[in-house]
Amino acid sequence: MALVPAAGQGVRLAAGMPKAFVPLLGRPLLWHCVRSLQASGCIDVVVVAVGEQHREQARAAVAEAGDQVWIVTGGAHRCDSVRAALLTVPDAEVVLVHDAARCLTPISVIQAVVQAVLAGQRAVVPVLTVVDTIKQVDPDGRVVSTLDRAALRVVQTPQGFAGDLLRQAHQQPSGPVTDDAGLVEALGVPVTTLPGHPDAFKITTPFDLVLAEVLAGARAAGAG
Ligand code: CTP
Ligand code: MG
Repeated sequence: MALVPAAGQGVRLAAGMPKAFVPLLGRPLLWHCVRSLQASGCIDVVVVAVGEQHREQARAAVAEAGDQVWIVTGGAHRCDSVRAALLTVPDAEVVLVHDAARCLTPISVIQAVVQAVLAGQRAVVPVLTVVDTIKQVDPDGRVVSTLDRAALRVVQTPQGFAGDLLRQAHQQPSGPVTDDAGLVEALGVPVTTLPGHPDAFKITTPFDLVLAEVLAGARAAGAG
């Protein structure tokens, strides 16, 4: 079972449409995302959350993926969209949450996350080490401190959860959380990590879209 939050506006990409519908090699990002989830071979149903006015567009984008892709109406914040999707699968035992905007995530990462949950880890996130030095600054931009890079990780999706744990996590009032693992952490439940992949980056800015076109083009050339 995979939930795909795709109801964002894509303000930073500024493509004149929600990111999920922005084309990559002529296909919407959402199409690429759903295709890789299905190609992993370990996902049955995919529930996609989009804005109310984009439901038909989403249905068209994933039409060829078959009837195991459901479209629901998302909410104002990412966690509202995930919650809306989660409500449609009340019995799922393993649930992945995967950003539509991380549509080039390798299948191997999707498979590894599912395997980790099936092996008993109740909350698992793919991560990368941090290559840049990260500094904390005050509102005026003055440096407050330099964080220990060795202890930091960049967090990606898909994030995998035991279904009951994710449902419990989403029953809490959520503040400014940007991922589902954050809600699990708030319950005091351990979250484990496994290796992510550079290709699982989130397409956020126009630069990212250029990078995605290059990557997707190279993959298509390699496959063909
Ligand atoms: N998302 C969602 N519902 C929202 C906000 C975001 O389902 N209310 C989804 C986005 O569609 C995206 C993922 O959450 O797949 C990660 O969010 P982000 O990268 O911030 O996407 P956007 O919110 O669309 O981009 P921006 O913040 O630049 O507007
Ligand atoms: Mg956003």
